[in-house]
Amino acid sequence: MAHEGFHEDPKILSDLTKDYHRIIQSTMEELEAVDWYNQRAEAATDPVARAIMEHNRDEEIEHACMGLEWLRRNSPVWDEMMRKFLFTSGDIIVQESASADQTPQPDSSAPAAQTGTLKIGSNS
Ligand SMILES: [Fe+2]
Repeated sequence: MAHEGFHEDPKILSDLTKDYHRIIQSTMEELEAVDWYNQRAEAATDPVARAIMEHNRDEEIEHACMGLEWLRRNSPVWDEMMRKFLFTSGDIIVQESASADQTPQPDSSAPAAQTGTLKIGSNS
């Protein structure tokens, strides 16, 4: 079995944490593919080649969104943040600062992926 980029021994990780990692890895790959296809589409000189790459880019966006939806369904923090920031029209930075002090504290007895304690890089 491939190591699949785990940073800890997979034997000590829960199935949920391993799937959480797999989905994040897959979603990153989909987003990278979106960027690549987008650049290739813009650079293409043949309109059919451009259309194919735009189609492929948009399929990768679909795949990335599927991964994000899995994260939302399996982590209350992803769910909370998506509800807070997605499909809104206000100032994103103002929204973040206004609610920085209102972030709920996780239940320390629940698995990390379920409590949202995997807030890597968060300053809040
Ligand atoms: Fe894909």
